[in-house]
Amino acid sequence: MNNKSAPSHTPVLLPEAIKALAVQPGGRYIDCTLGGAGHAAAILDKSSPGGQLLGIDADPKALEAARERLQHYKDATLLVNGNFADLQTICLKYDFFPVHGILFDLGLSSLQLNNAARGFSFQQDAPLDMRFSPDQKVSAADIVNTASEAKLAQIIRAYGEESHSGRIARHIVGERPLKTTRQLASLIEKTIGRRGRIHPATRTFQALRIAVNRELENLESALSQAVDLLGYEGRLVVISYHSLEDRIVKQFMRTESRDCICPPHTPTCICGHTASLRLINKKVIIPSAAEVKSNPRSRSARLRAAERITEQEDCSEVIDEPAFSTIVRTRGWRKPVMLQKIRTVFFAA
Ligand SMILES: C[S@@+](CC[C@H](N)C(=O)[O-])C[C@H]1O[C@@H](n2cnc3c(N)ncnc32)[C@H](O)[C@@H]1O
Repeated sequence: MNNKSAPSHTPVLLPEAIKALAVQPGGRYIDCTLGGAGHAAAILDKSSPGGQLLGIDADPKALEAARERLQHYKDATLLVNGNFADLQTICLKYDFFPVHGILFDLGLSSLQLNNAARGFSFQQDAPLDMRFSPDQKVSAADIVNTASEAKLAQIIRAYGEESHSGRIARHIVGERPLKTTRQLASLIEKTIGRRGRIHPATRTFQALRIAVNRELENLESALSQAVDLLGYEGRLVVISYHSLEDRIVKQFMRTESRDCICPPHTPTCICGHTASLRLINKKVIIPSAAEVKSNPRSRSARLRAAERITEQEDCSEVIDEPAFSTIVRTRGWRKPVMLQKIRTVFFAA
């Protein structure tokens, strides 16, 4: 691949994300969803000189493309093929914490959506796959062809917010095995018909993708891990693309920015909770009309940001690996470790 070729994924809410991350020269950042590396490149630009970036993506192909794109910054980047559900383990392994900012730009990239073979889109016919990583065991075909009717209906209702979930599930079970995206999309179209501009299979495809990749569970788990990795005043920035994700992010940031989370009307606080975050933007940030016009895929984007207001504590209890406890038992900011040193240790071969 030619690294000078134009990127085929346009980063969403780019200036807004960089501002919310408060990117500064010499800072350390984690991009948990590297994708086409548009946000990553901007973070590296803005954090230069001396900035460092740990980029994570579950998709090895995305990582490969990002590596090409970030060639120019290779001495400042550490790219890891992994799931952000393992964020803490990854950061401990590479001694990459505390950091000044962590970005999540959720969902899938245009590179993935446009690659017919990945099975994310019903615009092209392809096997029903939808896995971000080939290491994942369960594909969309597995769910479609083996889940019970009740389970299918539940997935389509919960993750696709589809009001015809019961009928769709019944027809899927009646017509299986279904092997390709087009087979599934036309079955759904026959089942519930076409209304409006949005294809009737859109919600079911979203639901299957979320289920295959355990997107909501992974997000919930990663958010709290992220807060532990931030240094004092470090920023957490999340861009989400549907209401289910945004609800999780909103709830998490709200809860973590409150000193007490007792149920309303509890006479005295019994929860002992203390705020670890401060909300940066009271109102969710959405793309401008101009951005939506030039990049229609940005239309559903929602950006939320918060800042850590507590110092790093001794968090050795939360780490299972005793080998790491000496690293973790450090208070406050630590001197950045040279990426070259990390590379020598982990990529010696
Ligand atoms: C919207 S794209 C990111 C685009 C990127 N910000 C850019 O500017 O090009 C989302 C990326 O996150 C990755 N991803 C989604 N869920 C993930 C997870 N749980 N762990 C790691 N990567 C994930 C996808 O493979 C995809 O490449």
